[in-house]
Amino acid sequence: MAIKAVLQMGDARLLERAKEVSDFNTPALKKLLKDMRDTMQALDGAGLAAPQIGIDLRVVIFGIAENPRYPDAEAVPQTVLINPIITPLSEGVEDGWEGCLSVKGMRGLVPRYKAIRYNGFDAMGKPIDRTVSGFHARVVQHECDHLDGILYPMRIKDMRNFGFTAVLFPGEDLQDD
Ligand code: NI
Repeated sequence: MAIKAVLQMGDARLLERAKEVSDFNTPALKKLLKDMRDTMQALDGAGLAAPQIGIDLRVVIFGIAENPRYPDAEAVPQTVLINPIITPLSEGVEDGWEGCLSVKGMRGLVPRYKAIRYNGFDAMGKPIDRTVSGFHARVVQHECDHLDGILYPMRIKDMRNFGFTAVLFPGEDLQDD
């Protein structure tokens, strides 16, 4: 197990555009993915981007079976997504509450495309091509934003819909991150 410290909002490394991965199926990439998985599981996150643990590469992981942080969310398959490209499939956006392991203890209401296609590669360099909607689409948009230095508070339209989880959702026993 290698649980890494997750950088918190305010750290300039979270604001940079991460670099493309050029070599797949390498020991270094496998170690990065193991560290990311260990860290995400330990913190009970829905997803994690490499820049959040200080690694400047276009790598995200995500997946939810049933997660107490997102009690109403549908399951999302455990996925490694490298060098992703997102294509919006809907004009419309919908608002949904998001949290982030880099913005501990808070939630914000964030507009995201309802449906997207995403392309990229898995750890072995095999292409991924999926069309998704709803919470799956939201998670992918959130995680891929990290690769462009965008944190979800930067996308909130009305800052009155940004606050501490324990205050916004009292009694819902949502985890404090
Ligand atoms: Ni995040």
